[in-house]
Amino acid sequence: MPISIDSQASAPEEPIESVILRRGSTRAMRHDSISQHQLMWPLAAATRAVAMDATPGGTLLEHYINAHAIDGLQPGAYRWSRPSVKLIAANESARKVSAELCLNQPLGGDSAYTVFHNARLDPIMDALGSRGYRVAQLEAGIVCGRLALAAFALGLGASGLTFFDDLVSKYFGTSATPMLVTAVGVPNTIPAPAGSPGAPATLSGYHRLMDQIAFQLRRSAELH
Ligand SMILES: Cc1cc2nc3c(=O)[nH]c(=O)nc-3n(C[C@H](O)[C@H](O)[C@H](O)COP(=O)(O)O)c2cc1C
Repeated sequence: MPISIDSQASAPEEPIESVILRRGSTRAMRHDSISQHQLMWPLAAATRAVAMDATPGGTLLEHYINAHAIDGLQPGAYRWSRPSVKLIAANESARKVSAELCLNQPLGGDSAYTVFHNARLDPIMDALGSRGYRVAQLEAGIVCGRLALAAFALGLGASGLTFFDDLVSKYFGTSATPMLVTAVGVPNTIPAPAGSPGAPATLSGYHRLMDQIAFQLRRSAELH
C-alpha cells in the first residue's frame, strides 16, 4: 500500500527562490529507483488547487501516473487520489509504455514516473465554452511547472513532454484527454543552473548531449 502524504509537514526546508535558481533542464534520466516520498510529495504539492475564476472547485484536471521505478510500489498505471495514488493496473512494462505514449521519446520512459495531466473536455467546454480548453491547458502548465520544482527540491529532475492523446486515454481507461505530461526521475547529469535575466548561462557539453538525444530518437524511430 503506498504511503499518503501531508504536503506541508513533509516539505523540504529550502526556500523556493533557491530551488528556482539552482534548477536546470533535465534532458536525460537514469533508470534508478526513487523513494515513495519522491513520488507522493511532489504530486501533493503540484496538484493543489489553482485559484482561478474558472475553477471554483479548485481544479479542472485529473492526474494519471505511470510508475516505473518507485521503491515498494508495483510498476503500472495509477490515478492520483489525494493524498495517495490508486492502482488502475499493474504493468511490468510501464517504462516502455510511457516512452511510447510520449511520442516514442526515451525521456518519457527513462523517468522514475511519468504524470499525465488530463481533463474531461466535454463538460468543461459545456460550462466554459472554448475558454475551457485554454483554462485546462493553463492549469496543466502550472501543475507541470510546480511538479518540476518539487522534483528539483527533492534532488530529482523533470521535463514536460508531448504525447499521443488517444493512446494515453485508452491506456489509463479514462475519457479524460491529456493536456500535458511531466516525466520525473533521476537526472543523468547534474542539472546546470540557468543564468539570471539578461545573463543566460552557457551550457557546457550541450552539443554532446543533443547528439546523444538525437541518436536515441533515431534508434527509437527505427524500432517503431
Ligand atoms: C507544451 C510543451 C510540450 C513539450 N514537449 C516536449 C517533448 O515532447 N519533448 C521534449 O524533449 N521536450 C518537450 N518540451 C520541452 C521541455 O519541457 C523543455 O525542456 C522545457 O519546457 C523547458 O524547461 P527546462 O528548462 O526544464 O528544460 C515541451 C514543452 C512544452 C511547454
